[in-house]
Amino acid sequence: MPGIIVVGAQWGDEGKGKVVDVFSANADLVVRYQGGANAGHTLVVNGVKTVLHLIPSGVLHPKCMCMIAPGVVLDVEEVIKEIRDLKAAGVLTNPEQLRISDQCTVLLSYHRKLDAARETAAGNEKIGTTGKGIGPAYEDRAARKAVLFGDLFDRERLKQKLESSLKEKNFMLTKYYGEEAVDAEPLYARLLELATELEPYRSKDTSLVIHKALKAGKKVLFEGAQGTMLDLLHGTYPFVTSSSTISGSACIGTGIGPGMMQKIIGITKAYTTRVGSGPFPTEMNAELSERLRTEGGEFGATTGRPRRCGWLDLVALKYAIRVNGLTSLALMKLDVLSGHEKIDVCTAYKLDGVEIKDLPVNSHDLERVEPVYRSLAGWNEDLQQVRTIQDLPQAARDFVQFVATEIATPIDVVSVGPGREQTLWIKPLFA
Ligand code: GDP
Ligand code: IMO
Ligand code: MG
Repeated sequence: MPGIIVVGAQWGDEGKGKVVDVFSANADLVVRYQGGANAGHTLVVNGVKTVLHLIPSGVLHPKCMCMIAPGVVLDVEEVIKEIRDLKAAGVLTNPEQLRISDQCTVLLSYHRKLDAARETAAGNEKIGTTGKGIGPAYEDRAARKAVLFGDLFDRERLKQKLESSLKEKNFMLTKYYGEEAVDAEPLYARLLELATELEPYRSKDTSLVIHKALKAGKKVLFEGAQGTMLDLLHGTYPFVTSSSTISGSACIGTGIGPGMMQKIIGITKAYTTRVGSGPFPTEMNAELSERLRTEGGEFGATTGRPRRCGWLDLVALKYAIRVNGLTSLALMKLDVLSGHEKIDVCTAYKLDGVEIKDLPVNSHDLERVEPVYRSLAGWNEDLQQVRTIQDLPQAARDFVQFVATEIATPIDVVSVGPGREQTLWIKPLFA
């Protein structure tokens, strides 16, 4: 049963999009199972860049079916824009290639407004969200008030749900945050328009489709969004997103049992980045951070915000291996580390003067840890032209070997550039 989960092992933006695109050449089905348009997954094919927020990263392979499962909060304005852009680029010409579950939570303008209003009100305490309305949309789901994708196709139900939801939302927006109210009528009319355009992609039961595919031996990729350290329960709370980002979420978000999963592949950069507020033990000084940001193009794919940069943190990576049950890893952006005389890798933390190897789950403690570094020799060669592991300079191979040994988990893939061809295989995915 070849269910393969691809999950971010750090704070997001590890290169999941690239990996899923590359893996999709041999996959039948790619499923997004959590998060929403806060994600920004970048694919580079023949030098052409595509950034996806909601559509699964298998979409550039016409034979690969893409699915948005119930765990996703679906911004209907964003998804339609993405569909139109893809069609304009000659992709997704067959509507059968994309299936959206009737059970997805619909994310609406008032969720985005509430997200923004809350962040403004929080001032210095803000989370630094993407402003995409993710928190408020998941709250609606948990409060059992969400509009579901399937509701868009029942005019009466949609009207009644919108009216009831807006009563509460407008009270919050106007009375608490001093913002303008959202008008029900135009929103309702717009949703009816969107429903017509989105109906060809509708699926009543994505769990059933995935289940049948797995039973038939088809290759199914489960594409995670965000990263382990942004998990609602197991990340650096409260500086996290509002969904479960760890591998278990692939089962919950789709309605597929864990027994059907064969591999869980964690994606990590050869260094670390984070966007938004919150603890980041290996964050570099401003000068080094600036250098990596420039050389690695470390600006958010969704918001354009500069990403905070730091060295690779093996304590956090081992935590990711544990909470996700990673079976192997892909090590991304090794090329970006070229030209450093020495490369630091964090192998432990010091907390109150005591050396620790396990990540403190309490964010206040994580804020206080001091990283313990091991310095490895750097290399000067440009890795972007390298096509096999054997052709990497010795120092780069030593770096990969050091990481694999420390984490005691295999590294299957090393990436040396954004393009598909810049992918070095240690072990093929569907071997
Ligand atoms: P995701 O959210 O995990 O899909 O990652 P993002 O797309 O937000 O950010 C990863 C960025 O790194 C994108 O701009 C990719 O094109 C780029 N990228 C991916 N792998 C590599 C690599 O090995 N080397 C370099 N230089 N860039 C890469
Ligand atoms: P991908 O899938 C990096 C971060 C935000 C913020 C926190 C909460 O591209 O890896 P939210 O809007 O989710 O309420 O913001 O989570 N964040 C991401 N950081 N990559 C992402 O997605 C992210 N999605 C959310 O910056 O710190
Ligand atoms: Mg991203």
